[in-house]
Amino acid sequence: MTRAIAALYRVLYDGVLCRLPEPTAIALGQTALKLIPLDRLGAFRLDDPRLAVTLGGVRLPNPLILAAMYYDTRILRRAMGLGFGAVTAKSITRDPRPGHPRPNLVRVRTAAGPGLVNCNGFQNPGLDAYRAALARLPHRVPLIVSVAGESVDDYVALVAALGPLGDLVEFNISSPNTRLVYEWSRRPAELVGLLRAVRAATTKPLIVKLSPDFADANETRIIPAALEAGIRIVDYGNARRVEEPRLSQRAGGLSGPEIFAETLANLRRTRARFGGELEIIATGGVDAPEKALALLAEGANAVGYFTGFITRGPILARQILERLLAARR
Ligand SMILES: Cc1cc2nc3c(=O)[nH]c(=O)nc-3n(C[C@H](O)[C@H](O)[C@H](O)COP(=O)(O)O)c2cc1C
Repeated sequence: MTRAIAALYRVLYDGVLCRLPEPTAIALGQTALKLIPLDRLGAFRLDDPRLAVTLGGVRLPNPLILAAMYYDTRILRRAMGLGFGAVTAKSITRDPRPGHPRPNLVRVRTAAGPGLVNCNGFQNPGLDAYRAALARLPHRVPLIVSVAGESVDDYVALVAALGPLGDLVEFNISSPNTRLVYEWSRRPAELVGLLRAVRAATTKPLIVKLSPDFADANETRIIPAALEAGIRIVDYGNARRVEEPRLSQRAGGLSGPEIFAETLANLRRTRARFGGELEIIATGGVDAPEKALALLAEGANAVGYFTGFITRGPILARQILERLLAARR
């Protein structure tokens, strides 16, 4: 059954979605997610207590996390019934943002498989509107709220306001297509103040989302500073910055299987260096069960993905969970 759904989705993705202009394919995919109650079909999830893990003391029914991209609460609500152990909402900024002009998302065919490059630029409704929408979202599985800012004040206001509405709070210092957010990783000294201020702004478990482009700063300065501030979870990580002349910003974040090898290498080094004091969500390039299993075997506490959800379809979570259970028998 799982295999048949996966094969059907491949035909749909390669034969239809990939042939449509990208904005049309996105609109179609998001409308389908909102309208078709896939979450009511048991076929997309696998409920088994042996899969449960904890992250920051919060119980997740399994270690798979939908990475930040969707903010529409109707989509988040569906995703919570599609096999994920937790779902991340898109990074929210203090003021509404229209995002970067189109084209802001293109497909890429890499040697490793299909991926995306985006310069989304945090299209989102802003803090006030989003707080009201999130307050009405039931948490069938834990919700991770995500925030992005350009100043310490921004992050503190966002974390204080959205923290009560999430089970965990992720703060994004790593999106490669909004200069001021990406620049935080280049200013580790200032980041220390940010980490402390954000820690004081919420009692919820905090996650720092790191960029794969700053491995050295992450591991020598940012993670030690996070631990010092009492922040024990990292999401490693965001998309990799690349030049992409088809995008309006001429550059964007590469996601999908091309970045998987780096995700695995970053996880291995970080786990070896920080041991069990750090919890790690490994994100970047997971689009097949063996990749998720490899990350968990190397010590990831949880595995995040977004691009695989698009290129392999909503059945990917179930495929991974089946393999995970089989490996534990
Ligand atoms: C269109 C798009 C929008 C994204 N928006 C966000 C965001 O708002 N906040 C964030 O932390 N990451 C964002 N990401 C990054 C993903 O959460 C993820 O870290 C990255 O795509 C690597 O994982 P993947 O290879 O599984 O997609 C976005 C990615 C894409 C493709």
